[in-house]
Amino acid sequence: MQVKKPWWQSGGVRIALALVLLILFGGAVSGIYLSQIPPEQPIAFPHKTHVALGAQCTYCHPAAAWGPNAGLPGISKCWGCHQQVQKKSPELEKLAGYVQRNEPIPWVPVAIQPDFVKFNHQPHVQAGIACETCHGPVSQMTVALPQPRQNMGWCLDCHQRMRPNDFVRLSDCATCHY
Ligand code: HEC
Ligand code: HEC
Ligand code: HEC
Ligand code: HEC
Ligand code: HEC
Repeated sequence: MQVKKPWWQSGGVRIALALVLLILFGGAVSGIYLSQIPPEQPIAFPHKTHVALGAQCTYCHPAAAWGPNAGLPGISKCWGCHQQVQKKSPELEKLAGYVQRNEPIPWVPVAIQPDFVKFNHQPHVQAGIACETCHGPVSQMTVALPQPRQNMGWCLDCHQRMRPNDFVRLSDCATCHY
């Protein structure tokens, strides 16, 4: 006599379960993968090359030390060096084009929080947190890669870890939201 298999061992259900798992897993993988794809930038600016030359992060993003936004360098900062740099390349011709037209370079933001989040670089940089702790290994990147999972939990985890005695204030909704 054949024993009836439980419902979850029937072929159809197994296939359906496998499909659901595949979809969930595939979604998670492509989600992680997609969130790391950098947007197309107007110039393929190589961070790696410039950091290896000895340029400090705050040379190009100076306001990180004293203000809410780090800021992005404009044509005058680039041209300050590239006027003298002999190297020619298609990317550097794009730079020369912006300089000739006296046009700002339309960099596409990658590290960005929604408008209802208050973030200020200054207290973080003054607390001695390195740029790369939050932004990933930028000194190894060309254009900046978006970092996944920079969500509310990420902010709160670090606040609890680094400032347990000030966590009441640093987890107050009004500290981070308008
Ligand atoms: C504690 C984490 C943290 C540290 C440390 C940090 N950043 Fe940021 N950075 C952020 C967050 C969060 C944003 C998005 C802010 C927003 O959209 O309001 C951001 C945005 C930026 C941006 C783009 C927008 C802007 O602010 O102009 C640049 C450039 C930047 N950071 C550079 C730096 C540099 C350079 C350093 C080191 C001197 C640094 N960051 C240190 C978290 C950090
Ligand atoms: C501190 C001086 C300095 C500053 C500031 C600077 N660069 Fe450079 N950059 C260099 C040097 C030096 C090289 C390497 C040239 C070589 O490989 O011989 C370089 C290389 C590059 C390259 C790679 C060229 C290639 O195709 O191999 C690009 C693109 C570039 N810079 C764009 C920029 C842009 C855009 C800015 C402004 C946001 C900028 N640079 C700011 C000094 C600088
Ligand atoms: C020579 C100038 C230069 C230096 C030095 C430099 N950056 Fe940048 N950075 C740029 C430019 C130009 C962009 C815009 C293109 C891009 O997003 O990669 C940028 C973009 C970024 C962004 C994304 C900003 C946004 O709008 O979302 C972050 C984060 C960042 N840089 C962090 C760093 C860190 C950390 C260092 C030091 C390890 C550093 N940068 C050194 C020129 C520089
Ligand atoms: C790597 C650790 C770290 C991360 C990640 C981090 N913070 Fe902080 N944050 C700190 C520390 C440390 C302080 C306290 C600095 C001090 O004591 O002055 C702080 C302070 C603050 C303050 C209070 C500033 C003040 O006026 O006293 C705000 C607002 C804030 N963080 C927002 C955020 C937001 C929003 C995020 C996420 C997008 C974030 N932080 C992510 C470490 C972090
Ligand atoms: C340390 C900073 C910080 C604190 C404190 C904080 N938040 Fe947030 N919150 C964020 C950031 C950053 C985001 C946006 C990023 C994300 O989670 O997608 C966010 C997003 C949100 C969102 C939108 C969620 C979504 O999925 O879009 C809500 C709602 C919210 N917060 C409510 C609160 C409430 C209520 C409190 C107080 C109990 C609070 N937050 C405290 C940093 C903070």
